[in-house]
Amino acid sequence: MAKTFLKIAAIYITLGVLLGMTMGIIQDFRLASVHAHVNLLGWVSMAIFGLIYHFYPHAAETRLAKLHFWLHNIGLPVMQGGLAIELISGNSAMLPIVIVSSLVVVIGIILFTINLFLQLGSANVKQAKAKDVTI
Ligand code: HEM
Ligand code: HEM
Repeated sequence: MAKTFLKIAAIYITLGVLLGMTMGIIQDFRLASVHAHVNLLGWVSMAIFGLIYHFYPHAAETRLAKLHFWLHNIGLPVMQGGLAIELISGNSAMLPIVIVSSLVVVIGIILFTINLFLQLGSANVKQAKAKDVTI
């Protein structure tokens, strides 16, 4: 889970900087928001999720963590794809898709937060220490 998050994050920063560079070269900044969120929700957030799950491996093994992983990785490409179509076409036909996929990402992040509070609680930390797991 940690490594998968990190590898996907690396793909997002590659796409994000390519988009940023392209926007600069063609001087068309309509996709600035897509560029921003591909870099921030794709690269920055997922790299942080990956590092957190690396340092707290027991937190990565829960169903909440797996649900968060899938919600983020399904929601984000749909959200950014829908937003890109909306910003390029200039009409709001994609708005419902952008709203629903944003909600999917937000729900994933809420599950991530719940997961960390449950797994990084003092009882779990003691259990993990007893099992000699790095936390
Ligand atoms: C070589 C790499 C990058 C290039 C060439 C690039 C280029 C750009 C360009 C051309 C814009 C639009 C500016 C405008 O609308 O006036 C922009 C906006 C933005 N970029 Fe990048 N960018 C790069 C990397 C990144 C990274 C790594 C991040 C975040 C981790 C990032 C975050 C943002 C944000 C948040 C905005 C939106 C700013 C706003 O709307 O006010 N960029 N970038
Ligand atoms: C599902 C999660 C998120 C949603 C639905 C969302 C939504 C939005 C919206 C509607 C805007 C205004 C865009 C505009 O005026 O063109 C915005 C701007 C921005 N957001 Fe987010 N955001 C999310 C997550 C994040 C995260 C996690 C970060 C940082 C780590 C972030 C950083 C920014 C920045 C820097 C801007 C200003 C740049 C821009 O205009 O695109 N957002 N966001």
